[in-house]
Amino acid sequence: MEYQVIIPAAGQGKRMGAGKNKLFLHLNGKPIISHTLKVFLEDEKCSGIILVIQPDDESFFKKILKTHRTTKKIQIVFGGTERQYSVFNGLQVTKDCSIILVHDGARPFIRHEVIHQLVEVAHEKGAAIAAVPVKDTIKKVQDFQVMETIERTSLWQVQTPQAFRFSLLLEAHHQAMQENFLGTDEASLVERLQIPVQIVTADYDNIKLTTPEDLYIAEAILKHRAINK
Ligand code: CTP
Ligand code: MG
Repeated sequence: MEYQVIIPAAGQGKRMGAGKNKLFLHLNGKPIISHTLKVFLEDEKCSGIILVIQPDDESFFKKILKTHRTTKKIQIVFGGTERQYSVFNGLQVTKDCSIILVHDGARPFIRHEVIHQLVEVAHEKGAAIAAVPVKDTIKKVQDFQVMETIERTSLWQVQTPQAFRFSLLLEAHHQAMQENFLGTDEASLVERLQIPVQIVTADYDNIKLTTPEDLYIAEAILKHRAINK
């Protein structure tokens, strides 16, 4: 089943502290965003990529795209001040499609198997998100004092891709805009429509590169994959 993907890449990478968009940092000699794009460029089921960027970064991204063999299915659009607005801008230029995915530019290790499973479940049920069971014990804390230990078996750590019927995601975004709701992921906007969101078990190594130590974890993941190819 075919799908299109919106890749938000319009952040500033403040927590990475590199003084530029973290997606331009190199892993194995290639910018992080190139690793992410490659996954979707090489997936025959992916019929379109909407890459959301900041205007200031445009020339860097264009240079990066030139290093890829074919970029025909990539469309560039400008993002907003928040991730949600960036995805919204991406949705505005997406041609009507059955299934739309949203995937962080900063998650270069997503595998085709997980993507395809998400597409199938979203097609069947409307909404599906990648997640892994939480490994650590999580406590609710206020002023450095523990308020509550949350029962771990019900906790999942949510990632991207998140996959939706296109019309559903569009409606969820419009509703959120109208009500000034700002969520940290797409699923939270869909949940507000009382639509059930399904979980697809993903991989612990589908990390989002957020802080500097994630870079050496990423190098280890690449090394591991090269050995186990
Ligand atoms: N993103 C975006 N538009 C924004 C903010 C973020 O498209 N206004 C993108 C980022 O480029 C990234 C993804 O959303 O690929 C996930 O966001 P995050 O990891 O928070 O990246 P940054 O916002 O760049 O990092 P930080 O929050 O540390 O500044
Ligand atoms: Mg951010």
